[in-house]
Amino acid sequence: MSERAVVTAGTGGIGLETAKGLARHGFAVTVVGRNAERGTSAIKEIAAVATGAAPRFVTADLASLGQVRALAAHLAAEGPLKVLVNNVGAMFPQRRQTVDGIESSFAVNHLSPYLLTELLLDRLQAAAPSRIVNVTSAAVKAAKRTFDAAEPPGGYYGFHWYGRAKLAHLAYTLHLAERLHGTGVTVFAATDASLEGQTGVLIGPGARPVPVSRGAGDPRIITQVLELSRRLAPLGGGPDVQHK
Ligand SMILES: NC(=O)c1ccc[n+]([C@@H]2O[C@H](COP(=O)([O-])OP(=O)(O)OC[C@H]3O[C@@H](n4cnc5c(N)ncnc54)[C@H](OP(=O)(O)O)[C@@H]3O)[C@@H](O)[C@H]2O)c1
Repeated sequence: MSERAVVTAGTGGIGLETAKGLARHGFAVTVVGRNAERGTSAIKEIAAVATGAAPRFVTADLASLGQVRALAAHLAAEGPLKVLVNNVGAMFPQRRQTVDGIESSFAVNHLSPYLLTELLLDRLQAAAPSRIVNVTSAAVKAAKRTFDAAEPPGGYYGFHWYGRAKLAHLAYTLHLAERLHGTGVTVFAATDASLEGQTGVLIGPGARPVPVSRGAGDPRIITQVLELSRRLAPLGGGPDVQHK
């Protein structure tokens, strides 16, 4: 039976190519997106290269924490998960808020994949050795490094706010790798056998490990990001915070 892999925002761009790569490796791939038409067309492309079980599309708007929770429940009910690729991410030219009242850059690039990962951790552990892949960006270098609220002080600038949210997610990723040490769940590239057992490593252009950007491993930043994430997207069943 094919092992399961999930790729968020897998109906186009980098996510679709990733889904095709996983399908070529024999994974039963689920791609997540908002648009059913794009989903159907992605599935056709993925199926054409799949060597294992048929791929499928699941609808969810990952800008909504409620939809992230519903997606996680749906995926968790299906059993062990071998690979989770948190590919969703977006830059917004104008300031926007999600349905939860949270600034969109922070919600889509960090909170959403944070919440999905946390809610699927036991299913990933059940499939160990398993892998979590979080997609980052060079924009982390332009980030303001304060994380006491979803929005940094000052006027909105899409690229910087995007970079800051990606930095938050990178800091969370390093924390996660550390936390999962010894569980068999690595936070890394999805299939490269030469990287087996390694975790918390940033993969750069050329598909090779590169140094992690300054700031992401700063314990103060990691603590702030974790506190903020737990406050805005509680794991204990509380409501997602209507908070900026
Ligand atoms: N492109 C780059 O140059 C670049 C550079 C560095 C990092 N990245 C990162 O790489 C990742 C992928 O980027 P990309 O440029 O390949 O993406 P993209 O082409 O902009 O989008 C890929 C897919 O994301 C889905 N999507 C967007 N918002 C969504 C949401 N709220 N909920 C669910 N699905 C959503 C869309 O599908 P639907 O329309 O079906 O929802 C779309 O097919 C992101 O994390 C991005 O930040 C990209």
